[in-house]
Amino acid sequence: MTDSRMTVPKFVALKAAGRKISMLTAYDFTMAQLLDATGIEAILVGDSMSMVVQGHTTTLPVTLDEIIYHAEMVGRAVRQALVVVDMPFPTNHLGPYKAVESAGRILKETRAQAVKLEGGADQAGVISALVSAGIPVMAHVGLRPQSVHQLGGYKVQRDEEQLLTDARAAQDAGAFSVVLECIPSSLAAKITAAVQIPTIGIGAGPDCDGQVLVINDLLGLTSGYVPRFVKAYADLKTTIAAAVTQYRDDVREGAFPGPSQGFR
Ligand code: KIV
Repeated sequence: MTDSRMTVPKFVALKAAGRKISMLTAYDFTMAQLLDATGIEAILVGDSMSMVVQGHTTTLPVTLDEIIYHAEMVGRAVRQALVVVDMPFPTNHLGPYKAVESAGRILKETRAQAVKLEGGADQAGVISALVSAGIPVMAHVGLRPQSVHQLGGYKVQRDEEQLLTDARAAQDAGAFSVVLECIPSSLAAKITAAVQIPTIGIGAGPDCDGQVLVINDLLGLTSGYVPRFVKAYADLKTTIAAAVTQYRDDVREGAFPGPSQGFR
């Protein structure tokens, strides 16, 4: 590991230094290499892969083996950013022993440095077992997509007391950071001030210590529903469609391949 490589302690120190943290998802080698070269602080191999890579309607179906397969690709590409991998449903709900076994596989078989799990106070025992095993944990509170059926949809979470309790419990159990998903901005600001560990927001306003987005959303690759909290910084869907249509037309018209693409 080079000196410039982001580590868990360096990531935590960014909060005290007042430096905002950028995190994005990646699921394969090419994208991870591109993102890493920009200098973003962290890359998440998210279970959002279940939806954006595998085409499922929720994050529930993706398996541990599948996450590990994609995390290996990402790990091979990244030189600078902190690599965090989601614990897929229900690997962190089978008790601390099984959770250590699953998270241990993630760290052993990929080059990831940390895992993320959905949960706060309810997962305190699991977080502390993982941390005791030397496995850094990013917690995830607020909207927990793995609990979509229990929550009755992807809804903004507003229970202030519960959310503060969750973030504090995650910190006290040893989590080095916590994702705040889909909560009112003012509440996210309150939680961010109440904990010493960096908060990473998604749909949680500007006052979190950092932000995370799904890369497909940021690049304008997502078809259909895009959450309100997303900002698309590009329209790659249109760019790709135009490039592929041009290629198709060139092939049909005999314009591709041309002389410069051939061999003598
Ligand atoms: O799976 C994921 O991509 C996530 C983030 C968007 C927070 O959990």
